[in-house]
Amino acid sequence: MKIIKYLGIFLGFLILLILVSGAYIRLFKPDMEKPTNLKIERTAARVERGKYLANHVTVCIDCHSRRDWSLFSGPVVKGSEGSGGEKFDRKAGFPGTIYATNLTPYQLSSWTDGEIYRAISGGVGKNGRALFPLMGYHRFGKMDREDIFSIIVYLRTLSSIANDVPDAVLDFPVSLLNRLSPQKPMHQKIPAPGDSVKYGGYIVNAAGCVECHSKQDKGKIVPGTEFAGGMEFRQPVGIIRAPNITMDPQTGIGNWDRELFVAKFKAYADTSHRLPPVPKGELNSPMPWGMYAGMKRQDIEAIYTYLKSIKPKVSSIKVRSYNND
Ligand code: HEC
Ligand code: HEC
Repeated sequence: MKIIKYLGIFLGFLILLILVSGAYIRLFKPDMEKPTNLKIERTAARVERGKYLANHVTVCIDCHSRRDWSLFSGPVVKGSEGSGGEKFDRKAGFPGTIYATNLTPYQLSSWTDGEIYRAISGGVGKNGRALFPLMGYHRFGKMDREDIFSIIVYLRTLSSIANDVPDAVLDFPVSLLNRLSPQKPMHQKIPAPGDSVKYGGYIVNAAGCVECHSKQDKGKIVPGTEFAGGMEFRQPVGIIRAPNITMDPQTGIGNWDRELFVAKFKAYADTSHRLPPVPKGELNSPMPWGMYAGMKRQDIEAIYTYLKSIKPKVSSIKVRSYNND
């Protein structure tokens, strides 16, 4: 009897603790600072840098636009640039329904530079809501502040496209726990291109390669699997998985030299050339090859140098499985 009584008291305390922490998170998180009175000067150099990053490195425009999945790697539908894009839902393994929002002036003209800055590099939206980290604010917060400023200046130049995108609806308990996700930015200066491992690391972080090229569990990277592949993308005809891009010669890309690596990316560089259609019954690549193809040669080479500097991992990934296999 005594045991049951103690157990009851213990459970009572546990429930109280859970309720109190739940209320705490609801009331006080995210506790990001108020957006500053930031006013970013609009310069031509910033527009150009921002355009480059948003379209070819951080690929903001990739997620935040409509995609044509009938063509290889789902290029952006012309005229939909930044107007809001894909819906990520339970069918694709997400804890709720999350929409890539409209980034054109239609949506953002009422936001201050400070509010946009806080959303991109801290993960807090206009009305203080915590953004779901599929939006890569953790990694954008590690970029050079100046690069984020350039991206904001570029977003202001997009054509305004009328398209209302709903806010995300997350399932419990993610809806609560997600409030803990926003983080104060920890900007770094962009490393000198001559310091190619560090510089490559900067580009790899900005481009989000590790997000796909690792195993994922409930939206988090499984520690130890970084760059060793494994993330799954379900499509009507089957599953495609991100391969191992460490330099293991058997299971990774250890046999690729720098030229082959660059050539793979540059294969789709000529944008006047339409990306090839995907044959019926084939899996399409979710990797935005068409957008990364516009990356500067120097930046692609730096990615290669960075990948060469990390420890090779043995990880054999079956990239394509078809439903009728
Ligand atoms: C992998 C896809 C993806 C990429 C890449 C991405 N985003 Fe997002 N972004 C999202 C999603 C999804 C949301 C909505 C999150 C939510 O509602 O919780 C979002 C939300 C936002 C918001 C908040 C808008 C609002 O109305 O609340 C801003 C601003 C934003 N993104 C800007 C950017 C910028 C700038 C980049 C590039 C530096 C970028 N995003 C890259 C998917 C992405
Ligand atoms: C949206 C998810 C996603 C992102 C982001 C992504 N990849 Fe991929 N990647 C894939 C998938 C899936 C494949 C397999 C299908 C294919 O080859 O296109 C792939 C294939 C590759 C291959 C070919 C490997 C082989 O063995 O044939 C290389 C190299 C590669 N990715 C490098 C990168 C680098 C470097 C980055 C960052 C600049 C990156 N990827 C970003 C999903 C992604």
